[in-house]
Amino acid sequence: KKVILSGIQPTGIFTLGNYLGAIKTWGQMQDDYHCCYMIADLHALTVRQEPAKLRKQVLECYALLLACGVDPQKSIVFIQSQVPAHAELGWVLSCNTQFGELSRMTQFKDKSAKHPENINAGLFTYPSLMAADILVYQADMVPVGEDQKQHLELTRDVAGRFNNVYGNTFRIPEPYIGKQGARIMSLADPTRKMSKSDENQNATVSILDKSEQIVKKFKRAVTDSDMEVCYKEGKDGINNLMSIYSVVTGKNMDEITAEFAGKGYGDFKVAVGEAVAEELRPVREEFDRLMADKAYLEQCYREGAEKASRIANRTMEKVKRKVGLIG
Ligand code: TYM
Repeated sequence: KKVILSGIQPTGIFTLGNYLGAIKTWGQMQDDYHCCYMIADLHALTVRQEPAKLRKQVLECYALLLACGVDPQKSIVFIQSQVPAHAELGWVLSCNTQFGELSRMTQFKDKSAKHPENINAGLFTYPSLMAADILVYQADMVPVGEDQKQHLELTRDVAGRFNNVYGNTFRIPEPYIGKQGARIMSLADPTRKMSKSDENQNATVSILDKSEQIVKKFKRAVTDSDMEVCYKEGKDGINNLMSIYSVVTGKNMDEITAEFAGKGYGDFKVAVGEAVAEELRPVREEFDRLMADKAYLEQCYREGAEKASRIANRTMEKVKRKVGLIG
């Protein structure tokens, strides 16, 4: 079986973008691959966090992954900082990543523009740590949303170069980006991606929003002055709603257009909202159940970290040998 690795930052409750772009796929891959899924808490430190809040969010996000269908019996589900090999390999890879390469990362440019008061070294070397997350498990495939594609390309470059210099060490991973759902846009401004950090409550659907809230947000979604539900250049709002509806219901764009022929945007928005609300209802219920059983969650993440460490340490020993460190 091929190896899958992916991660998510514990910087708040996941959005519908996180869910449709990545986590829903994670659950679907578990029977066909060896899957490793992690909460990227070390990555979260690149932005200033309140310690108590971060600790709480790590646990919530872990429970959310399970609530979304990630199964700790089938997959290795762990917290990044509990597997020291990530930070260790991250350092070695930082020394094999060029300043120029990191300077070109659009996420770095965006985040440093947004937080000019805290452009720290970790924010800059973030992609080397992400490369370490992936390469330390010799992952074949990395299921992510579109916004992580550039980091994946860098990972491939770094791995390839390392293999050339030190001899074959890492498997070169492929990104796995879904056709639909890879870039879910804000409901308030469909030219921008839906993001956890958006301050406008109407822009983002959290996967723990109540059904009525979800439907209300979709009713308010920004569209255009046209009438027809069809997927077309320039209809960013409708295209986004159609993508969401498509991933949730499994219908393709033609089927959706046919379904809403002769109906207005109003009916369509309600249908999308209701479909999303139905999809997320069991997630919310399972989350509440899991959060009431902290002992179970702790057992899961401790076991996850042990299993992950065993694999990661094997790669780390190899890396140390290759670069000339005494293992
Ligand atoms: P993060 O925490 O920002 O997002 C987690 C996943 O959700 C996807 N995503 C979206 N997909 C579609 N539409 C959106 N609007 C949207 N917003 C977010 C992201 O693409 C991602 O797949 N650097 C990563 C975390 C990470 C990681 C890794 C991922 C750390 N190490 C190793 C893969 C492999 C991040 O910040 O994701």
